[in-house]
Formats: sequence, structure tokens, C-alpha cells
Amino acid sequence: MNSSNGSLTVVGSGIKFLSHLSTETEAYIKQSDKVVYSLNEPAMEAWIRKNNKNSESLNFLENQHNFRIDTYKAITNYIVNEVKKSQHVCAVFYGHPTVFAKSALDAALTLDEEGYSTKILPGISSEDCLFADLKIDPGSHGCQSYEATDLLIRRKKIDPSSHAILWQIGIIGAVQGLEEHNNKIGLELLSNYLAKFYDNNHPIIIYEAALYPHLQPVIIRCHLSELKTAKLSSLSTLYITPAFQAPISAAILKKLGITKLK
Ligand SMILES: C[S@@+](CC[C@H](N)C(=O)[O-])C[C@H]1O[C@@H](n2cnc3c(N)ncnc32)[C@H](O)[C@@H]1O
Repeated sequence: MNSSNGSLTVVGSGIKFLSHLSTETEAYIKQSDKVVYSLNEPAMEAWIRKNNKNSESLNFLENQHNFRIDTYKAITNYIVNEVKKSQHVCAVFYGHPTVFAKSALDAALTLDEEGYSTKILPGISSEDCLFADLKIDPGSHGCQSYEATDLLIRRKKIDPSSHAILWQIGIIGAVQGLEEHNNKIGLELLSNYLAKFYDNNHPIIIYEAALYPHLQPVIIRCHLSELKTAKLSSLSTLYITPAFQAPISAAILKKLGITKLK
């Protein structure tokens, strides 16, 4: 066991600046030997730098690679090496740190294999904010959550009787840097693919949770036919309402001895 030589705590800072930071996460940021962070807005970065003098942004690794996958690997390696310097390291990622965020999870798994002590603390993800802002219970119909590019290239099946959440709809197919990315083809392919499961006039919501306490979320309600031309950002998430309630099997109800459902 290498735990006396260094350890890793991966934490999520949530979506809304400071309001989503748990007291446990705050303590790790303040008390770790070193804090490394990858965030999407400047106020949280400034707060971390103020609260731990030995903190460092991981952004410098972003310009060194053409492909995003190589950047993620570089971030993982950097975190692993910081822990191997016999430090207690806290890695901060926005939202929930293992939700559609590969680098920190891979660092924890790599260090686990080598016998280091690791821990992951949950954070409030954009999906949590979506459930709250759109007033949705994912349990009412079941809920599917797909990364948009992954859905498209793997031709994943959507169950239209459940809630559906599609991530990264603003950067479909972006394997390289995000600044130059043209999303037009990806969005058209996605719209056509979704039309296999839903009517063109099916209601959809393009959602962006507020990053600061004084701001409102962006909630654009429209129809599937309008998705192709929608203005999106790299933070946009697509929510699709269930098209119908799946029918109940009377035979299974009987076998379970259920006579009344709600
Ligand atoms: C790399 S993932 C990071 C997700 C993050 N770990 C989380 O827990 O929300 C980026 C994607 O998350 C979603 N996302 C991030 N910030 C968001 C926000 N403020 N509102 C809605 N969706 C957001 C978008 O789908 C975006 O393309």
C-alpha cells in the first residue's frame, strides 16, 4: 500500500459558483498539499487559488495536443505524477467529477491499481440541475443519458417512452480543439437520427444551467424539427420528453401480486 506516499481525492465543484460546493469538498480543497483543477469559469478558479496557495490549473495541458483524447490522457498522467511526488492531491473538476469527465476517473483508477489511496467525492452535475430547473423526476418514466456523438456513431437505441438526455450536442464529432469546431453536420445527423424515434413536432428542450447564483438557466422549448438550426454552446444539453407511457404487463402484475399501482 502506497497511501503514506501520496493520495488523490477527486472532487466536483458543482455547476453554480460556490453555491454547489459541499463542505466536505471545501475542506479537501483547503487542506490538501496540492490542488489541481479543470473548471469552466474563472470565479471558482480564483476562489481555489485564494484558499490553497499550492494550486494549479490543468489548462496548460490543453494546448499541447491536437486530439482531445490525448489531452485527457495528459491530464490523467499529470495528476498521477503529482500524487507520486508523495503529496495529498485534490483534483477539482466542475459538475460531478466522473460524469462525462474521463481524466480524473482514469487517474483514480490508475492509482488504485498501484496501491495508492484514492477517493471521489460527488458534485452537483448539470443533469442534477436539469432535473431541478425542468421539474422532472427521472424515475417517473425511466431516464436515458447519452453522449451525443456516442449515440450517433454507435447507433444506440432510444426508448421514446423514457426521458432522454443528450450531452455535448454543441460539439458533435469534435475530436480536436473546440474553438474551430463546426457543429452543423453533426447536428443535422443527430436531428435525422432522432427523427427515427420521435415525430418532427415532438417537444424538446435545449438547456443550460446557470453558472452564477444571480443568473437564470437558459431553457429553450421547441420542436425536434427546430434542432437542426438551433443555436447551441459547448454547455448545451438536450432534454427530450417521453413520447408516451410504456404499457403495463397484466401478466407480470399478477405474478407480483400487485393489485393497485399508485
Ligand atoms: C465534459 S461534460 C462535463 C459534465 C460535468 N462533469 C457535469 O457533471 O455536468 C460537458 C457537457 O456537460 C453538459 N453541461 C456542462 N455544463 C452545463 C450547463 N451549465 N448546463 C447544461 N449542461 C451542461 C453539456 O452537455 C456539456 O456539453
